[in-house]
Amino acid sequence: MTSTFTIAIDGPAGAGKGTLARRLADHYRLNLLDTGLTYRAVAHALLRLGLPLDNVSAAETAARQVDLAKLDRSVLSAHAVGEAASKVAVFPSVRRILVEKQREFAKAPPGAVLDGRDIGTVVCPDADIKLYVTASAEVRAQRRLAEIESIGGTANFDEILADILRRDERDMGRADSPLKPAADAHLLDTSEMAIEAAFLTAKAIIDDVLAKR
Ligand code: DC
Repeated sequence: MTSTFTIAIDGPAGAGKGTLARRLADHYRLNLLDTGLTYRAVAHALLRLGLPLDNVSAAETAARQVDLAKLDRSVLSAHAVGEAASKVAVFPSVRRILVEKQREFAKAPPGAVLDGRDIGTVVCPDADIKLYVTASAEVRAQRRLAEIESIGGTANFDEILADILRRDERDMGRADSPLKPAADAHLLDTSEMAIEAAFLTAKAIIDDVLAKR
C-alpha cells in the first residue's frame, strides 16, 4: 500500500463489527480505532462525576479530554456505559469534538480501520472501503446472551432484545449523524454467518478494491 488506506465499518451494536475490524486491521496491518470507545469515555467521565448525561458542557469538556491512546476497554466495556454513550452521542457539539480526533487518527500512515455508527457517512466519507455490518436484532440478542452466560452470568433474552431495540432506535433516530449505511457501503449481514465467514467475505471485497488501485 503506497498511500493511506481507510476501511470504514458501521453497524448496530452486537453485529460483530468490532471483531471484524480487529481481524481486518491485523490482516492488512492497519491502525485500529473502535470509535464507540470515544463516546463511552465521555459517558464514563460523566457517570464517574455523578453528572447527568444531558449536561452538554461537561460532556464537551470530557470529549476534549479524550485521549485516543488511553482508551481502556476494561473500564469502558460495561453495558451501562454503552447505554450512557448512546445518550451523550446525540449532542452535535460532543460529536464534533470526537469526530475531529477520529479523523486525525485515520490520517496517520499506513491508514486505519475505524468502526462505529457514522464512519462511512460522516467521519471518513472518502474511505477506500465502506462496510455496513448488520444482523437481526434476535440474533444479536442471542449472541449477547451467550456471551453473558459464557462468563457465568445470567440474563433474560426478552430484556436483552428490548434493550437492543431501544439502542437501535436511539442510534438510528437521532438528528445528527444517525446510524445508516453510506450510499456506497457494502452490506454484510452476519445473521447466519460465523466471524470467519464474515472476515473472508470482507477480505474478498477489499482485495478486489486493492487489485484495482
Ligand atoms: O459501539 P458501541 O456500543 O461501543 O457504541 C456505544 C454508543 O456510542 C452507541 O450506542 C452510539 C455511540 N456511537 C456513535 O454515536 N457513533 C460512533 N461512531 C460510535 C458510537
